[in-house]
Formats: sequence, structure tokens, C-alpha cells
Amino acid sequence: MIEVSHLTRVFRTYKKAPGFWGGVKGLFKREFEETAAAKDISFTIAEGEFVGFLGPNGAGKTTTLKMLSGLIYPTSGTARVAGFDPTKRENAYRRLFALVLGQKNQLWWDLPAIESFNLLRAIYAIPEAQFKTTLDELVDLLTVRAKLNVMVRELSLGERMKMELIAALLHRPRVLFLDEPTIGLDVVSQRAVRQFLRDYNRKYRVTILLTSHYMADIKELCERVIVIHQGAKIYDGALDRLESAGGARKKIITFLPGAGLAFPDTWQSSFGTTTRADDGKFTLRVPGENVVAVSQEILRTGPVADITIEDVPLEDVIAELFSAQA
Ligand SMILES: Nc1ncnc2c1ncn2[C@@H]1O[C@H](COP(=O)(O)OP(=O)(O)O)[C@@H](O)[C@H]1O
Ligand SMILES: [Mg+2]
Repeated sequence: MIEVSHLTRVFRTYKKAPGFWGGVKGLFKREFEETAAAKDISFTIAEGEFVGFLGPNGAGKTTTLKMLSGLIYPTSGTARVAGFDPTKRENAYRRLFALVLGQKNQLWWDLPAIESFNLLRAIYAIPEAQFKTTLDELVDLLTVRAKLNVMVRELSLGERMKMELIAALLHRPRVLFLDEPTIGLDVVSQRAVRQFLRDYNRKYRVTILLTSHYMADIKELCERVIVIHQGAKIYDGALDRLESAGGARKKIITFLPGAGLAFPDTWQSSFGTTTRADDGKFTLRVPGENVVAVSQEILRTGPVADITIEDVPLEDVIAELFSAQA
């Protein structure tokens, strides 16, 4: 459904030397800096897949989604979505995909959402009956029926994002590019949007490429992730393989010593050194296969009031992956 081949985008930003004479000089000789926001990115995504697109701020995620949407042109390389070349901006392509930017509104601020939806119906020439069925379904799935006639500016952030999603889906696109659709939302709305996206993807087999800062979104929705760093692709594959490769299935052991002085402020195990935090706890990161041995060492050293063993969070696994690349 999506085929991206050696996609590259270089931004030129002009440098202006400081002061008046710098400005004058700039009139004759412009100096610029080049940033490769996307560098030689290739991947393919099959119909119905729900793929997470990860990377730190400035990695090039939005740039890539904008190229796939035909909003900006690649410097080199090609993209094909359902056979369309996004740079041609054909009407048939516009009907095929939708782009949702969590940081930007597409709805009219001073109108109730329902009026924006009616305008979109006209723009996409959606037949009345189909429009009604689609709208009814989306409004119920996202539980915003009571808010349809409220001015968009008066909606909560969560309600607004739900309306944005409805606006994006009214014309029944086959491909969705979602750029931080849950950013800034409260936990309840985040969960509702996530649930909705999962159901919608399963029911209609739409192809989705999603970026999110919230690992919960990625973990719950995407089996496959593509990770980019400084414009280049550094990982493409199963999310659980990324977790096990990155952290070597590391575990975090936290323990709180009980009464008595058996644990000094620095505790030395054959697997590493820990220091006592302000709350009195010690924390140690160890590969999964050492968890039992380390726990036994801890319990031998002295009385323990509490001990917990957790997985290394996905955020940390990915951060490790990025620092290994730097
Ligand atoms: N219009 C632009 N002009 C110049 N530089 C840009 C422009 N858009 C993005 N960039 C730069 O390209 C890089 C990637 O940006 P972006 O795609 O927004 O990253 P992400 O969405 O992963 O946070 C950044 O270094 C950013 O500053
Ligand atoms: Mg972005």
C-alpha cells in the first residue's frame, strides 16, 4: 500500500550574518545551511498494517508524513501510496488518504464541528446517505454526539481531537497518516482515541502510519515500528524484537532495606553498584537471566522491606538505541 524508496528531503535555511553590514552582505552572497530532515528512507507497508513511526524530536517524522501527503516535495527518492505519486496531488489521491496533525487544527475554530463536517461533505462530494451513515457511526464510536453543535473553540482538547479524527475519516480514506494525534490529551481521552483507532483499523483494514510520544499508544496499537534518527531509518521490524534487542530484556530491580545497617549507602553486587536514593531505595538494572542471582545476593546481604522487579520501559530501550547510533 505504501512504498517509500530512498526518500530524502533537504531543507535550506539561510544564515544572516549579524548586524547591518551582515544584512547588506547577505544581499550579494547568501550563505545557507542544509539540514537533511529525511535521509534515504525506504520501507513498504502492506494494506491494513498499523505501523508506529518513532524517533526523537527533530528526527524527520513529520517531514516524512508531509512528503507522503504531497504537502512538501522530496529532494530525491520516491513515494507511492496505493499506486499514487503524492507529489502529483491528484484529486483521486486526496480522496484516498488523510493526514491528522495533532499540533494543528483543520476544523474551523468559530464554527460548530457539524458545520465543518457539512463543508467537508461538499468538498469531497460525499453522497448524502453515505455521509449520514459515516458520521453517525464515527460520532457514536467517539461519543461526541452531544458536542456536535458546540463551537470548536469551546471544546476540550480531547473532544477537539475526536472531531479532527471524524473530519479526517468522513470521506472514508484507505490510508491514514497520524502525527501525534494524542499529544496533550488527558489520559481518558488518550485511551478513548487509542481504542477508537484500534477498532477502526481492525474493522476497515485501513493502513495507518502513526507517530506518538506516548509509548502506550505504540505498544497497544502497533506490532511493527519504524524508527528514525537524524533523518535516517535505524530500525524496521517487530516491536517486541526491538524491546528484546535493545534492552537485552533487562529488568529493573528496586529494593528497600529493612531495619538494621546491613546495606551501606553504596551497595556492591557482582552485577553492579547501586547507591541509595533519597527515598532509601536502591535500583539495579540487570539482564533478565541474572535476576534470580541478584535477588539472592540482595536477600543475603541484609533484611529487605520491599523488592520489585520490572521491565525496562520501552522509552529507555529506544533511548539506548538512539545513543548507540549517536
Ligand atoms: N520548513 C522547514 N525548514 C527548515 N527546516 C525544517 C523545516 N521543517 C523541518 N525542518 C527541520 O527538519 C528536521 C526534522 O523535522 P521534523 O520532520 O519536524 O521532525 P519530527 O517530526 O521527527 O520531530 C528538524 O531538524 C527540523 O528543524
Ligand atoms: Mg513532528
